[in-house]
Amino acid sequence: MDLERALLDRRSIRRFKRDVPPDDVVQNLVRMALAAPSPMNRQDWRFTAIRMGALHEAIKTSVAACWDRICDENEGSASDALRGYKGHFSAFDEAPLLLVIDVKRPARLLEHAVGDRAERIQGDLISAGMAIQNLMLAAHHQGLGTCVFTGCIAAEEELIRLLGLGHQRRIAALVALGYPDETPMAPARCEPTERLRFLA
Ligand SMILES: Cc1cc2nc3c(=O)[nH]c(=O)nc-3n(C[C@H](O)[C@H](O)[C@H](O)COP(=O)(O)O)c2cc1C
Repeated sequence: MDLERALLDRRSIRRFKRDVPPDDVVQNLVRMALAAPSPMNRQDWRFTAIRMGALHEAIKTSVAACWDRICDENEGSASDALRGYKGHFSAFDEAPLLLVIDVKRPARLLEHAVGDRAERIQGDLISAGMAIQNLMLAAHHQGLGTCVFTGCIAAEEELIRLLGLGHQRRIAALVALGYPDETPMAPARCEPTERLRFLA
């Protein structure tokens, strides 16, 4: 598969066969992720692979409960929209494997000096995105399907506790991984001219 084809044909997969990707396959995908660029080559990403079972179930339950709470706290016009998001944010329940990717919190020194720009300046979150994209393309190349989820971050504290990550870590995303049981149509994409401008 050439790179352009892989970039254009990768789709987000939310329906999976029951087969679990073997450990060596997952390890190889993480090797591809670790090839991504990172600030000062820190590679400060951690991957936790979770098979179907009690922890998988607990993650799903806490994300759903968290969004129920958020919807209840925001009754009124926002509530319907939020309830619509809820299903979208927890559509990872079929995945035979969940990968949770976490990164280090920004250094206090940096937060103190530059406030809420610290995370972007430190760069670990954006580099986690690059690592995740590597992993997703490598998975696609091997006939596996993936989908990224960030709505679950609403339940970040609970997920950090469930996974025993410690409070110096932040969750970058959850990735559902498995063998695809659907062939989604490609969603429309913008033209480069709609998103690109050149200045001189
Ligand atoms: C940061 C990020 C967060 C996403 N969160 C969700 C999500 O919570 N639920 C979901 O079903 N898909 C999620 N997606 C997948 C997008 O919906 C999907 O990438 C988009 O519709 C384009 O489809 P494609 O990936 O098949 O090209 C997310 C994607 C990204 C990059």
